[in-house]
Amino acid sequence: SVLEMEVEQIKKGSYEHFMQKEIHEQPESLTTTMRGRLIRGGSCNAKGVLLGGLKDHLKTIRRSRRVIFIGCGTSYNAALAARPFLEELSGVPVSMELASDLLDRQGPIYREDTAVFVSQSGETADTLLALEYALKNGALCVGITNTVGSAIARNTHCGVHINAGCEIGVASTKAYTSQIVVMAMLAIAVGDDAISSQSRREAVIDGLFDLPNKVREVLKLDDEMKDLAKLLMDEQSLLVFGRGYNYATALEGALKVKEVALMHSEGILAGEMKHGPLALVDETLPIVVIATHDNCFSKQQSVIQQLHARKGRLIVMCSKGEASLVCPSGSCRVIEVPQVEDCLQPVINIIPLQLLAYHLTVLRGYDVDQPRNLAKSVTTQ
Ligand code: G6P
Repeated sequence: SVLEMEVEQIKKGSYEHFMQKEIHEQPESLTTTMRGRLIRGGSCNAKGVLLGGLKDHLKTIRRSRRVIFIGCGTSYNAALAARPFLEELSGVPVSMELASDLLDRQGPIYREDTAVFVSQSGETADTLLALEYALKNGALCVGITNTVGSAIARNTHCGVHINAGCEIGVASTKAYTSQIVVMAMLAIAVGDDAISSQSRREAVIDGLFDLPNKVREVLKLDDEMKDLAKLLMDEQSLLVFGRGYNYATALEGALKVKEVALMHSEGILAGEMKHGPLALVDETLPIVVIATHDNCFSKQQSVIQQLHARKGRLIVMCSKGEASLVCPSGSCRVIEVPQVEDCLQPVINIIPLQLLAYHLTVLRGYDVDQPRNLAKSVTTQ
């Protein structure tokens, strides 16, 4: 009805689409996600993280034999982004499960496991069935959702709400970055008893405090991403290479492009390049390479060299000021982003790719908020 359409427009404010609004809202949604949960530290208290819904279970998580992250789609990718930091701080092996695959295999889950269910809606059928399965097998079940009172929030033993605010666009954007931040805070809380990692934890807490500012900065790439979208709008396919903390960024960037812009896109682990993907490289296929500065940087530099040697059409994402380090020939297109703590970098790096997917969709004339064949919440199997 006309009234419904007017209400929609009011909710969108000055934005044309919910996805666009939700991308630009991220400095605020992340602030809300962290509100009341970070302890700045001072003369009488140490820097730390306070997650009310988890505090009675941290010991059990620390002592578990394994943490298993379980989710679908973007929520799975968020968990993948948080995995290295949780492994680093907890020392507990973290395994990843797509909910449907865990169910298909009926994979083993034990009482000594902590199963973490990540879901924006808290209602995804596969994730919910995987939760029932893990409960039956006696694991400690933790929920990370954006929806208070959702099935996953209600049926887990404990959990954290991401408080990103209502997300309307079918393609998840602000929930993704808030999920990563919650899982980074979870890692800090779990690792809180180790003196050896105290300075690392404090550096990441400082990084979290400053993250909304850095997100504001990276959002200024909007026009640049629109120009890039103009350049790529008629392409058939787009590859995204990442590794380490940003393997997840590659998968999630490609997922955004395929689900809203309806363009074939694949996220590729750069370490697997020589085991197949390299065969696709030619002068025409556009390839995004994520090469911001972290412990994998020199490996990514050599990946870029090898793609370059095969005349790959490269778009390189790097840390501000490092364009000449990632592309000495000057022949690639470069996206410079602000650098943050390595484990938080995925929050920054996904934003230019969200913007790219958004602009590609508008330019290609597709429905941004309701992509064909997809639903916000998949409540049937
Ligand atoms: C659907 C949505 C995705 C979402 C996935 C998982 O496919 O379109 O955006 O990532 O479900 O949803 P959840 O609510 O469990 O995070």
